[in-house]
Amino acid sequence: MKLTGLTKIILFVACFLVTRPGLAQQKNQGLPEKGFNLAQQQYHRMLEVSTNLNKYPRTSTKDGSLRSVDIWDWTGGFWPGDLWYLYEYTKDTVWKQQSIKWTESLEKNKFNTSNHDLGFMMYCSYGNAYRLTGNESYKDILIQSAKSLCKRYNPKVGSIESWNSRLSWDGKTMWYYPVIIDNMMNLELLFFASKVTGDRTYKDIAVKHAEQTMKNHIRSDYSTYHVVNYDTLSGKVLNRQTCQGYSDHSTWARGQAWAIYGFTMVYRETKDPRFLNTAIHLADFYLKNKNLPEDKIPYWDFNVNEKGYRPDWKYDPSLYKLVPRDASAAAIVSSALLELSKYAGKKGKEYKLNAIQMLNSLSSSSYLAQPGTNNNFLIKHCTGSFPHGEEIDVPLVYADYYYLEALLRLKDY
Ligand code: GLY
Repeated sequence: MKLTGLTKIILFVACFLVTRPGLAQQKNQGLPEKGFNLAQQQYHRMLEVSTNLNKYPRTSTKDGSLRSVDIWDWTGGFWPGDLWYLYEYTKDTVWKQQSIKWTESLEKNKFNTSNHDLGFMMYCSYGNAYRLTGNESYKDILIQSAKSLCKRYNPKVGSIESWNSRLSWDGKTMWYYPVIIDNMMNLELLFFASKVTGDRTYKDIAVKHAEQTMKNHIRSDYSTYHVVNYDTLSGKVLNRQTCQGYSDHSTWARGQAWAIYGFTMVYRETKDPRFLNTAIHLADFYLKNKNLPEDKIPYWDFNVNEKGYRPDWKYDPSLYKLVPRDASAAAIVSSALLELSKYAGKKGKEYKLNAIQMLNSLSSSSYLAQPGTNNNFLIKHCTGSFPHGEEIDVPLVYADYYYLEALLRLKDY
């Protein structure tokens, strides 16, 4: 084909625009590069101070030092998950070796039936390990973990029990069969197990659990209850309360985040439009909330200090002139929205834009640590459990995990 002079100029300009590095950056605003550069520095230092494979970095203590936990803690899967994401981004085998070490020391949990957190613990570690290495022994460990998680399923209730029986904050209610909104996240392990074994049982349990959650945890405005307590004999709901939120009828920010992420993932695995519709409404409650700050990093609960909401735990508002944020919720939601935006038709653009706004906030100096600070975690200003007086305005290993996941999703968008 013979090119005219004008065509040549147009082609030259087009090639220049496409290949210019600045433009590629504009697409994702250089956020993945910024976050992963910091992750390399911070995690390099973290590995220098964390050498015991039974001490998993989790957060900072009240005195400002690093708080690590043993392999049975619910957060154990996130540190190897952080390392796997870093390996995925850099392709550097140094990170792969570390990821393998920190993953493999969690193995005993494949028989753990003491709580519902196995999805977090095993899928964020071994799930990423299997995805990135194809090592068949990891697949077997994941299947055994799914079997253990299913031991907490009661067909009468149609849900996986989150915690063993315990009392509510006011001591007045015994939670016989507490199921918490967070539990949606553990279902991904079950979908995986069905796919690799061909056995529908795991998926059927996951779908039933999601249906019950949709029915019993979600209010008519698509905000969420944290804890639903069931009667194990009749399967009926006995109470709807909170454990980590402000009050029973308020909306705990991270609970809403787990719900948005969880229903988006269940839609991915089932293609059932009921779950997509639910994820969209949950996301809209969050994004359109009058109490969501302009930087889109939520307060730890959407209704803190609001009239009509009464905490039944010991709360002294005078101790907190500024209501603490929970940046971990924003990290989870930003990752979820990047996925949801691909399923949500016309609303997709709006969700992607919101996710990028959140990631911009998280990547700003207000929330992203300076190298060598923040106990070598990435994200600052998270809240673990305010009512317990624990982990207020601290880094949390799972905030880093969902932040890095969101950056990878943005990079490949
Ligand atoms: N149980 C998980 C969380 O604190 O969000």
